[in-house]
Amino acid sequence: MNPVDFCKITIQHEGTETAYTHRKGLGFQALCMKNKTPIDFDCRQADCGICIVNVLEGGENLSPVKETEQDFLNAMRADPTERLSCQTRILGDVKILVEI
Ligand code: FES
Repeated sequence: MNPVDFCKITIQHEGTETAYTHRKGLGFQALCMKNKTPIDFDCRQADCGICIVNVLEGGENLSPVKETEQDFLNAMRADPTERLSCQTRILGDVKILVEI
């Protein structure tokens, strides 16, 4: 497999930082199924917000925000750097902060 097809996801949580290699185009849910991460999921439909993450670097490497995610983020008055990881595909290197 071509190494170009992979990207690096760095997750900061409670003062630690862990890096993962992940295939481009897959979502955070796939990353978390294969690895123990601090990201939790529940509804997986942009309805509960438990999967929210703060994007520190590489926001341009995430899939665009769709209407259902934007509606939830607006209702939560989320910061512009926050995303619902259940709604997000990873297209390149990214660093996120998980605070929940
Ligand atoms: S798991 Fe509920 S909004 Fe993502």
